[in-house]
Amino acid sequence: MCGIVGYSGEKNASELLPSCLRKLDYRGYDSFGFAVQANPTIAVEKHAGRLDGFTSQLPESKLGIAHTRWATHGSVTEKNAHPHMSCDGSIAVVHNGIIENYSELREQLKQQGHKFVSETDSEVIPHLIEGLLAQGKSFEEAVRETCDSLQGTFALLILNKESNKLVAARKGSPLVIGVGKNENFVASDVTAFIEFTKDVIFLDDNELAIVDGNVEVQNFSTGKKLDKKVSKIEWDAEQAEKSGYKHFMLKEIFEQPEAAQKCLQGRIKDGKVVLPELEGRDEKLKEINRVIIVACGTSWHAGLVAEYIMEELVGLPVEVEYASEFRYRNPIVDDKCLVIVVSQSGETADTLAALREAKKKGALVISICNVMGSTIARESHSTIYNRAGPEIGVASTKAFTTQLIVLTLVSLYLADLIKSNPLEKQREILSALQEIPDKMQQTVDESNQVLAIAKKYWEKPNALYLGRGPNFPIALEGALKLKEISYLHAEGMSAAEMKHGPIALIDSDMPAIFVAVKDKTYNKILANIEEIKARGGTVIAVASPADKEMEGNVAEVMHIAKTIELLQPLLTVLPLQLLAYYIADIRECDIDKPRNLAKSVTVE
Ligand code: G6P
Repeated sequence: MCGIVGYSGEKNASELLPSCLRKLDYRGYDSFGFAVQANPTIAVEKHAGRLDGFTSQLPESKLGIAHTRWATHGSVTEKNAHPHMSCDGSIAVVHNGIIENYSELREQLKQQGHKFVSETDSEVIPHLIEGLLAQGKSFEEAVRETCDSLQGTFALLILNKESNKLVAARKGSPLVIGVGKNENFVASDVTAFIEFTKDVIFLDDNELAIVDGNVEVQNFSTGKKLDKKVSKIEWDAEQAEKSGYKHFMLKEIFEQPEAAQKCLQGRIKDGKVVLPELEGRDEKLKEINRVIIVACGTSWHAGLVAEYIMEELVGLPVEVEYASEFRYRNPIVDDKCLVIVVSQSGETADTLAALREAKKKGALVISICNVMGSTIARESHSTIYNRAGPEIGVASTKAFTTQLIVLTLVSLYLADLIKSNPLEKQREILSALQEIPDKMQQTVDESNQVLAIAKKYWEKPNALYLGRGPNFPIALEGALKLKEISYLHAEGMSAAEMKHGPIALIDSDMPAIFVAVKDKTYNKILANIEEIKARGGTVIAVASPADKEMEGNVAEVMHIAKTIELLQPLLTVLPLQLLAYYIADIRECDIDKPRNLAKSVTVE
């Protein structure tokens, strides 16, 4: 996730901005840059790589903007780093978000003679402002009109060499103003400036702020001036990095509605899935007769859920393999086989080896990654990014749910391509998918019910996680989350398999956590629950909204919001992530860096 900071005040922005930007380090980035007002020009400095050891060569200035980039459009290069400039170098812009209509805008601007130097979506913004200024519009008017013409999400900071103000604008990406004494800041979050001021104004969507010695906020569509409240931040600097959450993992669990929104953004148009990443692949995709999904860990669980979704929607056989096993077998793969490689880091050694094996055998390889420019992304024929933003907690949460969303989008794309499903069914799933960010929000809003359960059961040394259908892999994922961060023993399995052995383990110290939502196996699950209870076991259920029957049948219930059967795993996993988190927190475990685990496993 990109980070942005702007400064206007008495200090030297060229010295101050690098240290503010370093405070946003935790957001993850691959390149960075600055622009400062250096009358009569704007001085710019950009680099690919990290800020470690960086000292600015910029002239002294009282006004400047800065950016760390987490690449989404275009590779990690100095040219693609922000700020981006207008042709004449008079406008500098830093941007966080995604501009969906950038290719149309870029074409129009090129026809008007504008020259582009980067591959980014963001670069259209300074050129649009430049065009409007040339028509005689004021700086503010030009920014307002530009904001109105942008589709997608943005947090922007803009400098104009003719003006001693900086302009900030927000739609869908965070932006907060720090109000200091004789100085003001604007940043993606308060961490960047909390050591200087705790008085803040949170910008809302469609708002624009003009920042110099004063701060003036207006609605950029209507131009109406707004009377914004100044709030006091109560967090310290360390908490601020985590937006007030105790751990990155908790922050990332609660970020899932936003991550899902970003993942879906621009990928559904007119009732169809749009994946430009697959451009030029349709003929080959029409010929495939089999899909193999390879991955490790949590990504493998995403693949297992996708097996149910893809087989139902596309009607082709889908196999899901541990990358580590796939590479050492002699897998039957040919050029009619589509191999989907799933990896949040894009660097897992076994997954990379599996990808190379599949390519060698002639398969078309599509990867789903969260880290742009990672090795797996570079070596695949096509890559579709999750756009979850950097995940700092070692236990994967938002990367998992966005992997599932991308896998669902790919399933719908294939279904449409090979006409395996009636259009109405695809549309029904697409509209439910678009509602998922809201449904996720409703589900995580019920976190208190999960916390109460964690407080009751945190001392139990074992747990069984059980589910059926697409929620069987969610049981595996729930158990893995508990193991990873609380070091408790947990096993996940199909609820139907329980009677073939694991039921022997049931006693009062082994709670059984059922994913027991309303679906075609609901009655079977109810029978499994009775089997556990008959043997003195305690049952905790993840249940559909207002399922009174379940409430009457089990010791504890964690409700999810309502969605269609196929998409329920996107919601049922959320209380299980929270349960693992709260139990690990009560047990005082090192949640973001669990013992013996690594975020990216680059060894075999
Ligand atoms: C490590 C991480 C897991 C992750 C697995 C696969 O074990 O701790 O969270 O699921 O690697 O990683 P990948 O980056 O390939 O998804």
